[in-house]
Amino acid sequence: MKMDGFSSRLISRDYFQAIIDSMMDILIVTDADDRITFVNKTTCEYLGYSSEELLGRDVKTLFDGDPLDCLQFDEILERSSFKNIEKNIRTSSGRYLTLLISGSLVVSDDEVQSIVFIGKDITDLKRAEEKLKEYTEELLRKNKELQDFAYIASHDLQEPLRKIRAFGERLMRKYKEQLDEQGQDYLNRMINASERMQQLISGLLMYCRVTTKVQPFQKVDLNRIVNEVLSDLEIKIKEVKGTVSVARLHEIDADPLQMRQLFQNLIANALKFHKEDTCPIVEIESDIISDNTGREICKISVKDNGIGFDPGHSERIFGVFERLHGRSDYEGTGIGLAICKKIVERHGGTIKATAQENKGAEFIIRLPVRHEMDSGGS
Ligand SMILES: Nc1ncnc2c1ncn2[C@@H]1O[C@H](COP(=O)(O)OP(=O)(O)OP(=O)(O)O)[C@@H](O)[C@H]1O
Ligand SMILES: [Mg+2]
Repeated sequence: MKMDGFSSRLISRDYFQAIIDSMMDILIVTDADDRITFVNKTTCEYLGYSSEELLGRDVKTLFDGDPLDCLQFDEILERSSFKNIEKNIRTSSGRYLTLLISGSLVVSDDEVQSIVFIGKDITDLKRAEEKLKEYTEELLRKNKELQDFAYIASHDLQEPLRKIRAFGERLMRKYKEQLDEQGQDYLNRMINASERMQQLISGLLMYCRVTTKVQPFQKVDLNRIVNEVLSDLEIKIKEVKGTVSVARLHEIDADPLQMRQLFQNLIANALKFHKEDTCPIVEIESDIISDNTGREICKISVKDNGIGFDPGHSERIFGVFERLHGRSDYEGTGIGLAICKKIVERHGGTIKATAQENKGAEFIIRLPVRHEMDSGGS
C-alpha cells in the first residue's frame, strides 16, 4: 500500500512541479530550435519575466550581451553536455547576472529533442572577487610606493650625512685644540651619532634591496652557502671560541645571494649573543617535510646555546631596528632579522624564533624546495 502511494506521488505532475519550483537555481528547457519550452519559478524571479513571456522565446536572446557571447553559446550547444560555463544573462530590467551554467542535450532517435540548462547565480561572488582583486592590486601598488619611498629616502639621505661626517671629522682634526673638553665631547658625540645614522641608513637600503635587487631562483646547495658564510665568519668564530656544526643540508630553488645573507645574519647572531662565560655552540640542520597541500618544504634550524630572550618577544625581533639587548653590550642596528624575514617571505616561506632567557635560541625557517624557475623576480 505504502509503495503504491509513493509511486503515485512519483508520477504526479504537480509533485514534480513542486520539486522543480523549490529549486534555488535557474532551470530552462528549450526545444531543438532553442525555443524555451519550460522555466521554473526561480528563473522568472531572477529574470523578472513571467513564464508566459519566456515560453516560446529563443533562449539565445537572453544571453545576447555581446556578439562573442552568442558565438560561444552556439559552440556549447554542439556538445552533448557542458558544466560550469560562466555566462551573463540579461534580466527584464536590462541588468546582467553572471551565471554558472551546466546543461545537457536530451537526444532521442538520434535527434536533439530538448536542451536543459541549469544556472547558478554567481553575480555577488563575481563582484566580491573583482573587489578583492582591486584591493589586492591597490595594496601591491601602495606597497611598492612605500618601498620606493624608503629606498629613495635612504639613498638621498646618505649624501648630506656624508658631508656632516666629513666636516665633523675635519673640525675634530683641525680645531680640536681650540675646543675645551666639553666642546670636544659634543663633537665626538656628533660624529658617533652620524656614524650610527650611516649604519642605520645602510641597513635600511639593504632591507629595501631584498625586493629591488634580486637574482632569479636557481638550484642552491645550502651546504655550499653555509660553508662560504662560515669561511667569511672565520675570524669572528675564533675570536669567540665558537663551534658551528652543520649537518648535511639540502638543495633548494632559491636566490643564492639572499640565502647567503640569511645564514650570515642568523649565524652571526648566534655567535654574537653568547653567554659571557660559555663558548657559543651553533647547530645547523635541515629536513624535508611536506605541507598540508603535499608540497615539499625544506625545514632549516639554526640553534645556539646563547643568552636567548623572553619568548614574548619572538615576533617583535623581526621588526626593522628592533633590538632586545643594549648596544653597549652587543653591537648592531637591529636590521639583520628584518632582512631575514623579508628574504624568507620573498621565497614563499616562514621564519619563527623560539627561545628562553639564558637557555639559547632556535630559528626555524621553512622554504619551499621547488619554485617555478621564472617566479623569483618579484
Ligand atoms: N640568537 C639570538 N640569541 C638571542 N637574541 C637574539 C638572537 N638573534 C637575535 N636576537 C635578538 O633580536 C634582536 C634583533 O636581531 P637582529 O639580527 O635584527 O639585530 P642585531 O643583531 O642587533 O643587529 P644587526 O643584525 O643589524 O647587526 C637582537 O638585537 C637581539 O636582541
Ligand atoms: Mg643581527
